[in-house]
Amino acid sequence: MVSPLQKALFTARQGARVAWFYSHYLAAQKRQAPLKTKTGEAFRPQEATPDRAVLMRDLAGLFERDLKNADQDIYAVPVDHDGSLVSILAKSRAFFSDLSMVNQRREKRDVHEVRELEIKGDLPGYFTQNFHFQTGGYLTEDSAKLYDMQVEVLFTGAANAMRRQALVPLAEYMKDKDQRRLRLLDVACGTGRFLRFVKKTYPRLPVIGLDLSQSYLYEAESHLKQYSGIKLLTANAEAMPVADGSQDIITAIFLFHELPPEIRKIVATDIARCLKPDGRFIFVDSIQNGDAEGYDGLLELFEAGFHEPYMSSYVREDFIKMFANAGLEYKGHSRAFLSKVMVFDKVG
Ligand SMILES: C[S@@+](CC[C@H](N)C(=O)[O-])C[C@H]1O[C@@H](n2cnc3c(N)ncnc32)[C@H](O)[C@@H]1O
Repeated sequence: MVSPLQKALFTARQGARVAWFYSHYLAAQKRQAPLKTKTGEAFRPQEATPDRAVLMRDLAGLFERDLKNADQDIYAVPVDHDGSLVSILAKSRAFFSDLSMVNQRREKRDVHEVRELEIKGDLPGYFTQNFHFQTGGYLTEDSAKLYDMQVEVLFTGAANAMRRQALVPLAEYMKDKDQRRLRLLDVACGTGRFLRFVKKTYPRLPVIGLDLSQSYLYEAESHLKQYSGIKLLTANAEAMPVADGSQDIITAIFLFHELPPEIRKIVATDIARCLKPDGRFIFVDSIQNGDAEGYDGLLELFEAGFHEPYMSSYVREDFIKMFANAGLEYKGHSRAFLSKVMVFDKVG
């Protein structure tokens, strides 16, 4: 049960976070040239976009839901501590000093600059791009250090709260089970933000975080150092070095919109392979076309403004069919602001 004081602290903290990240968003927008199409005309989304009042209403709805989950003891009242004041200010400075490079890439539509880096290992072409026009793509330690800040700016402070919604179907699955006997795999765990929520809620649940980016896993390691029972694997989600039927729960947060259509199917098949019979797959990613009235145009802007090259096929993908073909049964979904949570169970 959340006390009135906890509620007040939560509201104050999340309000401050939204104001902080939104102020960065607005400042970044001011420094950005108007978006253009590939042929140089002004970019105009074909579908409707939500106005600021609708976005703020839906953002507030997400935080209400976050608090309600805590009130129902699904997880502890979220704190979302972003570090000391010094490190928060340092991240802000790093964000702005990188911004001109991001803007240059956006204007020149230069999305393959990362290929000039010395790339170690065998990385697929779809991965070696400057996603979000970010410096270093997913390949460098500097990019890993800035990533959480960039994502929170993009989502005006809602990224963590959206990730946390995966804990709801996770709690439903964990009910009356011994966490020490279960196994969870977070595919494309990135900097480990979601795994931190998992370990905070289920400290004795053994987990694996898998990602193709070694640099992001280094960052994840530092975010997760206070917890034990965590294995981090640098690997491709297309062929995970994880035994068949070994995982009770698999999660994938904000991965599928960054995969080409043919790769999505391969990853779905590999997820199904790694799950135990009756195991659960929890998907959190962007809403798709038609999921939220008046939002489809925003998804078009997301693709063009943040270099998300597979977004236009992602927003039309039939995931229920795709995962059914892989052997996973759709159990339901819910929208969480700009994201949706989908739940699939492996047919036993
Ligand atoms: C948008 S980020 C999401 C990261 C994290 N789940 C989060 O909540 O922030 C996408 C992540 O997918 C990883 N990724 C992309 N393609 C991958 C693949 N084929 N195999 C494993 N990881 C991949 C990237 O390295 C990156 O960390």
